[in-house]
Amino acid sequence: MKVAVLGYGTVGVGVYEMLKKAEGLEAGPVLVRPGKKDADFKVCDLNEIVADPSVDAVAEVMGGVEPAFSYAMAAIRAGKHFVTSNKALVAARGVELFHAANEQGVAFLFSAACGGGVPFLHNLARAVKTDEILSVGGILNGTTNFMLDRMQSSGMDYADALKQAQQLGYAEADPTADVTGLDALRKIMLACAVAWGVLPQEGLLNEGIDSLSAADVADFMARGRTCRLIASGCRAADGRIAAYVEPVLLSAGEAECAVLKNFNLARYEGKNAGSIAMIGQGAGRWPTASAVLRDLSGIAEGETAMFPADVCNGAADNAAESHAYYVRLPSACRGRLPAAEVLSDTDGVLRLITEGMSVAAMHAAAKALRAEGCGVFFAALREG
Ligand code: HSE
Repeated sequence: MKVAVLGYGTVGVGVYEMLKKAEGLEAGPVLVRPGKKDADFKVCDLNEIVADPSVDAVAEVMGGVEPAFSYAMAAIRAGKHFVTSNKALVAARGVELFHAANEQGVAFLFSAACGGGVPFLHNLARAVKTDEILSVGGILNGTTNFMLDRMQSSGMDYADALKQAQQLGYAEADPTADVTGLDALRKIMLACAVAWGVLPQEGLLNEGIDSLSAADVADFMARGRTCRLIASGCRAADGRIAAYVEPVLLSAGEAECAVLKNFNLARYEGKNAGSIAMIGQGAGRWPTASAVLRDLSGIAEGETAMFPADVCNGAADNAAESHAYYVRLPSACRGRLPAAEVLSDTDGVLRLITEGMSVAAMHAAAKALRAEGCGVFFAALREG
């Protein structure tokens, strides 16, 4: 199967190099930006790929929604199988791509868009066929896990940790999506769509680590807690789907505490299987390229889809999920949150544990406080 590659950045180089060595797969042309054609295998015009009858499949690793969506549709309509690592694309337009691929009778796979090298969506899509999925989630962003690990284990500051994650090729071109939890949110959207056939587009909530300070790290570490950025998705008995991302303070001994560097831990809970967790590198050239190659070899073996046949766009509702939260905010904001325990109130900085609050209420309260200019860090508390 001859595979053309769209994009020749961190992941694109990995995909192309792996294709050259893969059994049953052949490296085709690589689409690069105008002015970047410095070798015969590179092309600057998508038509050279979609109009080439020898190209069987297209692997898109450019990132971003446009022009990736237009290129994807052009490839699918030309009868090419389509594989992508682009979570922004699938989160925004995955339903349309899936139905277009179905109409055209070609495959549409995107394992690498959630979990990097971890074969999470692939296994989740298989589990859906025989088990009822109750929840999905875990550590789904390698950049922030790397940063949290460095900040907690070696006292590195936020800016240096982010810089290193960028140098190692873990972060997005614009790392805002990583540090605000948007990248992990896109991944949990995909997992919800695979698990329940609903790709939520509204009602989603993401809190990242961009308001985390060195003083916060010191404080919760002194309390025996480890912070991880966790994405969560679950479906209630009435069919409502919760989907959100937020920092979580874990107590010692929880599996996520042992997930270091750029690793992800992706989890699903099946009614019959119970909790299944997969750990592996969630970001970087070779892990991500390996997931793209696995999808391509899956297509060669007849695999065509990850979404259920009736997948549609929908909404999330995070009002029914609730936790106690650890919150740091200005002392002047005392009384703005339902406090179960005040941990400290010194030098104008208040740290408290809230009573149980809905995810929707906590995220809304932080948004309101920030709109007034108050700096807030919050993290859900999870007991082992
Ligand atoms: N920026 C992403 C991450 C890349 O850090 O997880 C892999 O999706």
